[in-house]
Amino acid sequence: MDLADLTRDLDALRLRALAAVAAAPDTATLEAIEVDVLGKKGELTSVLRGIGALPPDDRPRVGAVANTVRGAIEAALADRRSGLASSELAARLERERLDVTTPGRPLRHGSLHPSIQAMAEIAGIFEQFGFVVHESQEIEDDLTNFQMLNIPPDHPARDLWDTLYVDVPGHLLRTHTSPGQIRVMQAMRPPIRALLPGRCFRYESVDASHGFEFFQVEGLMVDEGTTLADLKGLLDQFAQAMFGTGKKTRFRPGYYPFTEPSVAFDVECLVCGGPGCPACGRSGWMTILGAGMVHPVVLQYGGLDPERYQGFAFGMGPERISMLKHGISDLRLFMDNDLRFLDQFR
Ligand code: PHE
Repeated sequence: MDLADLTRDLDALRLRALAAVAAAPDTATLEAIEVDVLGKKGELTSVLRGIGALPPDDRPRVGAVANTVRGAIEAALADRRSGLASSELAARLERERLDVTTPGRPLRHGSLHPSIQAMAEIAGIFEQFGFVVHESQEIEDDLTNFQMLNIPPDHPARDLWDTLYVDVPGHLLRTHTSPGQIRVMQAMRPPIRALLPGRCFRYESVDASHGFEFFQVEGLMVDEGTTLADLKGLLDQFAQAMFGTGKKTRFRPGYYPFTEPSVAFDVECLVCGGPGCPACGRSGWMTILGAGMVHPVVLQYGGLDPERYQGFAFGMGPERISMLKHGISDLRLFMDNDLRFLDQFR
């Protein structure tokens, strides 16, 4: 082995390495070439092992050639590496192509449940007449839900309200919002104009017009000299605001233990406007709520002197109002949470 041999071997190594680098299909292959050629146990090292057999004067010349070869291979590696990196990136971008101009998927916004919307609409109307919304409690005692409303324990009127009881003796889920009348009278002095919306519960088999859980909106007005005419005028105004101006309304005799006299309040049929149709049972009228003058006994239970104060109360089902207004035929739609129904109220 002499200087010429070594120089030739180094040059051959350079050519082989540069060809391999140029042909490397990916960065992993480049890594392998780098280790094989330039690594501690690589080909360049083994060629240089022959350097010991040369005369000392020749050695630096071989060292210089070796450095040039190493530099050329390193430069080729770096060059190829950056070329591969950008084409690999390009391939990846192509593979994971993303159209950033595609319109986004819209986020669904929540909306108020139609029962809540109906209550808000009712409250909005009565607020214009000076009524203030109060919230009473869903778990009531027998005293307030029944007895103070003039419904004694064995009174046959209890059959009107099939009751769900809770574990605490003497307590129940309110069957109507009317006990709120007592709570308001106990909490404040007249003049009272209170609106009490809330959830009610009855032990009832569910059908198109009955639920075991539903809302009511109760109204209570108490002042000196309040009359049935005030009630009639107020409810008539309410019906115009809710169902449209010019709608005929009427009072019919009704019965509730806690009002005397008691009435049912009807509005002309919203479907046929009077002559009678299947929607109104051919009567031409639709009943929208129950009402009456607060019974003197109830005023007394509320802590008020019936000689001095009179009042009226009314109670309505917001779902029923909404059904009449929007021509909805089944109360169960309000409980089913079917988006096809709910979306119509968005
Ligand atoms: N509480 C009665 C019901 O549940 C409705 C009502 C309220 C009637 C107030 C008269 C006065 O049917």
